[in-house]
Amino acid sequence: MALTTAETTLGSASAGSADRRFGPAAALSCRECGARYDLGPIFACIECFGPLEIAYEFSRVTREEIAAGPTNIWRYRSLLPVPADVAAKPNMAPGWTKLVKADNLARELGIRSLHVKDDSGNPTHSFKDRVVAIAVEAARNFGFHTLSCSSTGNLAGAVTAAAARAGLDACVFIPADLEQAKIVMASVYGGRLVGIDGTYDDVNRFCSELIGDELGDRWGFVNVNLRPYYAEGSKTLAYEIAEQLGWRIPDQIIIPVASGSQLTKIDKGFKELIALGLVEERPYKIFAAQAEGCSPVSAAYKAGHDVIRPVKPDTIAKSLAIGNPADGPYVLDIARRTGGAVEDVTDTEIVEAIRLLARTEGIFAETAGGVTVGVLRKLVAEGRLDPDAETVVLNTGDGLKTLDAVADQARPTAVIRPSLDAFRTAFA
Ligand SMILES: Cc1ncc(COP(=O)(O)O)c(C=O)c1O
Ligand SMILES: [Zn+2]
Repeated sequence: MALTTAETTLGSASAGSADRRFGPAAALSCRECGARYDLGPIFACIECFGPLEIAYEFSRVTREEIAAGPTNIWRYRSLLPVPADVAAKPNMAPGWTKLVKADNLARELGIRSLHVKDDSGNPTHSFKDRVVAIAVEAARNFGFHTLSCSSTGNLAGAVTAAAARAGLDACVFIPADLEQAKIVMASVYGGRLVGIDGTYDDVNRFCSELIGDELGDRWGFVNVNLRPYYAEGSKTLAYEIAEQLGWRIPDQIIIPVASGSQLTKIDKGFKELIALGLVEERPYKIFAAQAEGCSPVSAAYKAGHDVIRPVKPDTIAKSLAIGNPADGPYVLDIARRTGGAVEDVTDTEIVEAIRLLARTEGIFAETAGGVTVGVLRKLVAEGRLDPDAETVVLNTGDGLKTLDAVADQARPTAVIRPSLDAFRTAFA
């Protein structure tokens, strides 16, 4: 049985890579021309410069086998490029975060069935722990002793934390003007934190130069030379959402977009579940969410373009501030193919959405969560989302990391002396 992605096949029970360190991963495959490469720390096709991704030969796996696994991403190890015994000696164990039934928010928005997949519950409080967990395994397999990345903030913290536990050196690169909480998180675990005077796209370009300058042979840049492995970690969001819904893919899902990697891998995860017979095949719509101040994919979608014109970001959603998104064209394809859309919201709408989610569901999201909830609200208001369909919205990070977004209105209702009189006077 062939999976819907051309590169992936369901093999016999004995199928799998020759290299057991990578479990069911069989090769790297070019997303553009299909050229295949041996598994290694490479990320671009030498034929056409297209991005490489993991091609698998899966063995059959049952819902029961998965359910018997640990309550973290390693329950899906047979679908990831990791060795079979990874769960016995995990480095980080992210995942199995809450899928919160959001009835209050659904009622307020006027939709029937809504869940929030709340990934703020991961070890470093964002979904990035999922992707880093896979990258660490790859880094160990390739013998890298230094873990690195270019980051909009969350990834830097996830990398330094995972490196600390794995006994690896860390050297991470961020734009120097990030939120204080993200700088603290990225530095508290040790390692080197390098602030670059520029945007994320400048940081990323600089990291590519470092890799070209031979560091790529010695350092594992999780989202550059280890990107094919790293990116697969986002598939676990698709697996978990489906399993937590009772092995069902939701009708509609709203996903934030920075580079677009997460969105493309959630789609890949759903397709794999269908091909493996773990869920029933049914249509689903993927909606991509951006901040207006950094909306190159949304702009291309609205203009009907296939090519994405890079922008200079200017938004409070700094974790999504990638002006030249590597996976942007694939996000466009997926939104169009599934009948979803790409939409954006202003900084004001992001803040309103953070407050709305907090007020209705008791979930405090970072600005990226404000973007998805804001886009959800906008799509419902404009009649572009089916109010009767099962909907999932992602919150990928913790509001404690972006306090400034809501701090201006956050103060005590009153400051009083500790006396009954003072209390009665204040609240009479
Ligand atoms: C909290 C959060 N959500 C979503 C994203 C988007 O991830 P991607 O680059 O895979 O689109 C990021 C990226 O940094 C992030 O930090
Ligand atoms: Zn190619």
